[in-house]
Amino acid sequence: MKTVSIHLGHNATVALFEDGRVMAVLSQERCDNIKNSAAFPAEALYAILSEIGWTVEDLDNVCICGKQIYPTKVYDYLFSQENTMVNRNWLVSFAKNMRDSWIGRTIPYPFDWMHAFNSKRLRGEGGKELSVNLQRVGLSNKPIVYVDHHECHARSAYHALETSEKQQQALIFTMDGSGDDLCATVTIADGNGRWERIAVTPPHASLGGIYSNTTRFLGMKILEHEYKVMGLAPYAKEQYMLSTYERVFKPVIRLSDKNSLTFESTVNASTFYDYLCKHGVGERFDNLSAALQYLTETLVTQWIANGIKQTGISRVFTGGGVFMNVKLNRKIQEMKEVEQVFFMPSCGDESNPIGAGYHQAVQSGVKPEALDHLYLGLSYLNSEIEEFLVRNDCYRKFTISQHDDIEEVIAGLLSKREIVARFAGRCEWGARSLGNRAILAHPSHMESFYTVNDYIKSRDFWMPFAPSILDSAASRYLKGYDPQRSKAPHMITAFAATELGVDHLRAALHQGDHTLRPQVVEEVVNSSYYKLISMFEEKTGVGAVLNTSLNLHGYPLAATPEQALSTFENSGLMHIALGSFLMSKK
Ligand SMILES: [Fe+2]
Repeated sequence: MKTVSIHLGHNATVALFEDGRVMAVLSQERCDNIKNSAAFPAEALYAILSEIGWTVEDLDNVCICGKQIYPTKVYDYLFSQENTMVNRNWLVSFAKNMRDSWIGRTIPYPFDWMHAFNSKRLRGEGGKELSVNLQRVGLSNKPIVYVDHHECHARSAYHALETSEKQQQALIFTMDGSGDDLCATVTIADGNGRWERIAVTPPHASLGGIYSNTTRFLGMKILEHEYKVMGLAPYAKEQYMLSTYERVFKPVIRLSDKNSLTFESTVNASTFYDYLCKHGVGERFDNLSAALQYLTETLVTQWIANGIKQTGISRVFTGGGVFMNVKLNRKIQEMKEVEQVFFMPSCGDESNPIGAGYHQAVQSGVKPEALDHLYLGLSYLNSEIEEFLVRNDCYRKFTISQHDDIEEVIAGLLSKREIVARFAGRCEWGARSLGNRAILAHPSHMESFYTVNDYIKSRDFWMPFAPSILDSAASRYLKGYDPQRSKAPHMITAFAATELGVDHLRAALHQGDHTLRPQVVEEVVNSSYYKLISMFEEKTGVGAVLNTSLNLHGYPLAATPEQALSTFENSGLMHIALGSFLMSKK
């Protein structure tokens, strides 16, 4: 059985399944080079089919992530900076203020009915748009299943990461801004195929929505720059952060007294920007960031503790965009109640096609197979790269040499403090570079940090880089690293650095609090990358490299040779390894 599952909207993504196995995943942004592209992922579909040698005709069925389908224009508007959530229509604004001030949040108000009516109309439009697009790509005659948004989040986390052969119970937490009229769920998987959702929270009490609206209030992009807010948080002083927390965030949202696995709020999360315009003005940006992070960590760890207490299940799986927050995940893995924890990597909506495909496998009686790795994108042969270099006149413009052992060449350059981009094998799926589309540097010297930040990536000054660490070196650099309890192969959780970690990985840790967001690399997962870091360790004694994604500021990861060349030409990068070719600026 061959299945295609499609996530529409922000960061539109396609996944291909053969029975219960994930064969390939590709986001549309990697094809049209627009970060978090919401275009219907036709290009991604064709490219990924070609990668594994399938055609549209080979596909047996189609899964669509989510039951509420909106037209593309909604995402374009929602994620644009112009949409500040402040409704400029004075009548609607007045009505909202009336509702918030006098009538109270529990009584439906005409604005809510207007909103519901408008949503229904848009969903009708979205359904028609989808029909046209499915017809365009030749999928309209296939059986189509629509899978609930949070079911996708939960299935992706559980089936992608559950490798235990023994029947074991698990508790699955999902949390995001909102999807299919929910923002948080708790589900029990009994290890024997039974699946029971035991709690849901509607989107008006969305912690993810509060995080995103605060991101926008701080002048950053919604659903893209939340990690920057998290990165800013450690720079605030605790006493100022706590007073901002008490004043601005604490009165807004809490766990319900009636059901401690659901949230309730005094302000509708969708209007939280308006709330901040009243209550957040005058608060310092770093205190707002830290107070929001504190709110998130406090509420989510309490939520998980409540779930464990109520069910007696302490093996925890997490999915949904809120769990992209590596500092939150660090707190979760440190909880004494948690026996084991599995964080779905790149757990925003781009992970939903994986969950939808697993859902379809389970429904068809097929056993889902866990993900061995995330190298699920496009790849290029050396012959294709050579032809590309010739076609683009690269031999004239740059110095190019071919090497049987390109990993050793890269390791040698890195040891001499050169910065080298690496384009190798299949592109990684998801938000993080895992070494195959990467800019690598010596992690011990701050000049690496400044050079990559200022001359190549143009990132914000407060944002940290991350290390790829050999599994054999992980416990030397990461405090409390215990692979039995929680592995860290995907840069989805953080650790405090050991003293040696601070010394060896100075440029690849958070400069404010000395935490690390590591990719612990195993040989079995990526042997060539493992070899590269091992050779670097032989030369320097450091068992890790600084790894940041191969892209320019504001662009997605460079998935194709064209995008890689553009990144190379338009940045301060001096070296790029494309397959077995090393290309250097003259
Ligand atoms: Fe979501």
